[in-house]
Amino acid sequence: MCDILDFLREEGVSENLIRGAEDFRARYPVCEEYKDRIPDPRYYYYGKETWEMALAVLLAGRNLLLAGPKATGKNVLCENLAAAFAMPVWNVSFHINMDATYLIGTDTFDGDRVTFRPGPIYLCAKEGGFGVLDEINMAKNESLAVLHSALDFRRAIDVPGYDLIRVRPETRFIGTMNYGYAGTRELNEALSSRFAILSMPEIGSEDLGRLIMNSFPDMNPKICGQFVKLFEELLLKTQKAEISDRALDLRGLLDALSMIRQGLTAGQALEMSVVNKTFDEYERTLIRDVVNSRIPAAMGRGEVFLR
Ligand SMILES: Nc1ncnc2c1ncn2[C@@H]1O[C@H](COP(=O)(O)OP(=O)(O)OP(=O)(O)O)[C@@H](O)[C@H]1O
Ligand SMILES: [Mg+2]
Repeated sequence: MCDILDFLREEGVSENLIRGAEDFRARYPVCEEYKDRIPDPRYYYYGKETWEMALAVLLAGRNLLLAGPKATGKNVLCENLAAAFAMPVWNVSFHINMDATYLIGTDTFDGDRVTFRPGPIYLCAKEGGFGVLDEINMAKNESLAVLHSALDFRRAIDVPGYDLIRVRPETRFIGTMNYGYAGTRELNEALSSRFAILSMPEIGSEDLGRLIMNSFPDMNPKICGQFVKLFEELLLKTQKAEISDRALDLRGLLDALSMIRQGLTAGQALEMSVVNKTFDEYERTLIRDVVNSRIPAAMGRGEVFLR
């Protein structure tokens, strides 16, 4: 794959921002030990405006929170951003039981002596890199208080009993956050105030066509167009509240194509990866109708793929 900055140029992303990323790379070279943490993305994030907003936030030295519905490319964008800045990534999946020791580190006894085993936030702050705080809203707000000083102008973490950790100038924190479905939590003001919050849009139709053809280069372009239309229709029905957003799942749509390639019919594949995402029988009927009117259920690998 080519350098992601060439991709950004092709997408028409502002040259100023791209140069900013180039300068950042030159200014903050990464030591050998962490080079393998710099992502080499398999998929590009599509969406010029989102790219420009995200790059500007990080170049301004701020933390970024990507908030939006499922499968809008939040993690893909995190990876892509780290690749654009050529920064190593420390990924932390947030969950309800997490606490400061999980993030910062903890003393462990190896049978001989007590040593400090650093956590991902400690390493990211100290070594320089991008800390991806995945699904940050799923942790209890109180247990994240330890991050407050790292995320604001103080750029330091002071845990009693340990050294003061200074956050290196190139370190950035990127949070992701889902909302909209049951079980999602809100972020309190103390945390949300420390991020610039980018509201992640659903992918546009033209970009979706390119994403599908990029993921399945041997797909019949006409059928690709039908899949794009199917997504558009599901999106429209969701916006009109005719169906819930459970079946609006780009991940599912791409999964269906992988299954068709394995030999399932389009009907079988879309049933599992789109229709069955909702557990309400009536809603499933509605979604199945939308799916069948776009994509013939009996269609198989031979029609969907050229090879
Ligand atoms: N704008 C986009 N550009 C590229 N890929 C996208 C875009 N939107 C969605 N995707 C695709 O959607 C799928 C899910 O992406 P990703 O895991 O980053 O989503 P997410 O927003 O983190 O989802 P979740 O909230 O469920 O964790 C991937 O296959 C990704 O390629
Ligand atoms: Mg995600």
